Amino acid sequence: MLDHSDANHPAAGHTPLSAPNDLEAFWMPYSANRSFKAAPRMITGAKDNHYYTPEGRAILDGTAGLWCCNAGHCREPVVDAIQKQAASLDFAPTFQFGHPIAFELASRIASEAPDGLDHVFFANSGSEGVDTALKIALAYHRMKGEGSRSRLIGRERGYHGSGFGGISVGGIVNNRKFFGSMLTGVDHLPHTYNRSEQAFTKGEPDWGVHLADELESIVALHGADTISAVIVEPMAGSTGVLPPPKGYLKRLREITLQHGILLIFDEVISAFGRLGNAFAAQRYGVIPDMIVFAKGITSGTVPMGGVIASADIYNAFMDNSPEGMIELFHGYTYSGHPLACAAALATLNIYRDEGLYEQAAKLEPMFADAAHSYLADLDLVQDIRTCGIVAGIDLDPVEGKPTARAFAAMNEAFYKQDMMIRVTGDTVALSPPLTFTESEIDQTFSGLKKTLQAIG
Ligand SMILES: Cc1ncc(COP(=O)(O)O)c(C=O)c1O
Repeated sequence: MLDHSDANHPAAGHTPLSAPNDLEAFWMPYSANRSFKAAPRMITGAKDNHYYTPEGRAILDGTAGLWCCNAGHCREPVVDAIQKQAASLDFAPTFQFGHPIAFELASRIASEAPDGLDHVFFANSGSEGVDTALKIALAYHRMKGEGSRSRLIGRERGYHGSGFGGISVGGIVNNRKFFGSMLTGVDHLPHTYNRSEQAFTKGEPDWGVHLADELESIVALHGADTISAVIVEPMAGSTGVLPPPKGYLKRLREITLQHGILLIFDEVISAFGRLGNAFAAQRYGVIPDMIVFAKGITSGTVPMGGVIASADIYNAFMDNSPEGMIELFHGYTYSGHPLACAAALATLNIYRDEGLYEQAAKLEPMFADAAHSYLADLDLVQDIRTCGIVAGIDLDPVEGKPTARAFAAMNEAFYKQDMMIRVTGDTVALSPPLTFTESEIDQTFSGLKKTLQAIG
């Protein structure tokens, strides 16, 4: 067992939280509060590809936190940058004032983004980024004199965060059904999963491009001149990892262009190396009108999200507003927060200097082979999908108890295999830091195999 008081311990300097004395006050998000509080899975430290528990157990991070710590944990250049920034400029408003690091970061993000996506609007999370993109889409058409374009189109099984905009275009039923009527004027494309056609595919499935044509039916139903934007995750993550069918995103782009509808890629989890490029848009050779980003931009260290918009969108606001007036009535107190900007620049430097996007692309075949070879034959496993450094593994649900199987797997992995895995429904979703070694990938899938054998 490692001792936190040891200066060489990776979590040295962190206050050991060996026994929090009251767990009641914190209402935990997207969590089974009562189960957690009865048997807490507590984390008190992190370094590189591991978390540490209060007892000093090293836990292999199979999920990069929540799809965000792409550069691994507590990386020194990022820690230094945040500390220095906190000591020199803690906060300054970006409403009518500015500070250089926000401009520097916006330029840097634009330089990594696909051609033509040149302008960055900062938010603090993926959910705020999604709301920002939807609002920009609506306001853009109004700026261009097409205010009738007010409908938004999402997709079944889509996840776009927890704001009212995001849950309206999102398509995960439990995230929607408790919360009233949400935004009006929203339609959904069908999701792209069909197990009988796609099971056990590595990468993008061959079947499913035709599902993009459903957009034509929605356009025919409402008329193109009522539709503002389509938003999709290039690879749907939170619903259980659904890589796009080959050609699907290109087809969506063709149809949206044909009808003057904006295309928004929600790249909150697919950006910053997860699929082997800065953005999934580059992997798929499809340039949308806006990209939503968050998570990996700071490797999870300081909250940040945002939208990268095309020059055409930005110019519509600049060209159609009176000089000296606010062009877009939207923003957050912490848009472009100095600490987040400092963390993001240091993180992007790590991605560049360590070649982590290229590393992810190089590791993808090994990652996919390990997932399929360790797990495909297990009785509990119904399907495996891999794409970039992501794997989704569907488990046979316990009859009458949806999610119970996956929950058991999460506990078994944490307590017996010293691994953090993420579960959504009865799917295990793995998305480790891009700094994982081949042997850590191997350890992850062999550990998951043992986990599933133990609970099966
Ligand atoms: C595709 C996608 N969009 C939006 C979000 C919401 O991000 P946040 O939790 O930072 O608001 C997530 C979070 O997982 C996501 O996966």
